[in-house]
Amino acid sequence: MTKSTPTFIQFSFYIIFFYFLLLVSHASPQLHHQEQAVLVNVMQYWQISSSNGWSSANCTPADCSPPADLITCINGSVTKVLLQNQGIALVPPFICDLKNLTVIDLSYNLIQGEFPTAFYNCSKLEYLDLQSNNLSGTQHR
Ligand SMILES: *[C@@H]1O[C@H](CO)[C@@H](O)[C@H](O)[C@H]1NC(C)=O
Ligand SMILES: *[C@@H]1O[C@H](CO)[C@@H](O)[C@H](O)[C@H]1NC(C)=O
Ligand SMILES: *[C@@H]1O[C@H](CO)[C@@H](O)[C@H](O)[C@H]1NC(C)=O
Ligand SMILES: *[C@@H]1O[C@H](CO)[C@@H](O)[C@H](O)[C@H]1NC(C)=O
Repeated sequence: MTKSTPTFIQFSFYIIFFYFLLLVSHASPQLHHQEQAVLVNVMQYWQISSSNGWSSANCTPADCSPPADLITCINGSVTKVLLQNQGIALVPPFICDLKNLTVIDLSYNLIQGEFPTAFYNCSKLEYLDLQSNNLSGTQHR
């Protein structure tokens, strides 16, 4: 009998914690309307349909494994875009309307020519991977 009390408390704790997790996981994935609209435009621009494993309605949390993590959202805005090897040739000029983007990985695509200046407007960008594209032009020092 002495052991049943802590076990019951532990059990209750787990139940409460579970509901807390449920609450958090339901609260965070919903995108702001504006972000949702921009994301849909970006993905239409690239002709990447939701059958490739992304959703504007129900953005995946940061710890999802591929292919569900093409897009990551935190607190209602898009923070990561991981689109390797998608045949992407052009960068939409409005990509940085996703104002909270911190990570963009467009490696192994078909982007040609000069560095896409559209990225200049992503003021929170911390990581940009454009390796294995076909960029050229003058080097800025
Ligand atoms: C999400 O928003 C909450 C409340 O504003 C904040 O406490 C939390 O740090 C934010 N999470 C991230 C990952 O920015
Ligand atoms: C970007 O993140 C900040 C802080 O979490 C938030 O207040 C703001 O609404 C977000 N911007 C967009 C466009 O979602
Ligand atoms: C950055 O955003 C401003 C305002 O939205 C726009 O006028 C400008 O053309 C953008 N710059 C680039 C390099 O896309
Ligand atoms: C890369 O771009 C150069 C010109 O900028 C072009 O000659 C070459 O064919 C391109 N290569 C590929 C694989 O698209």
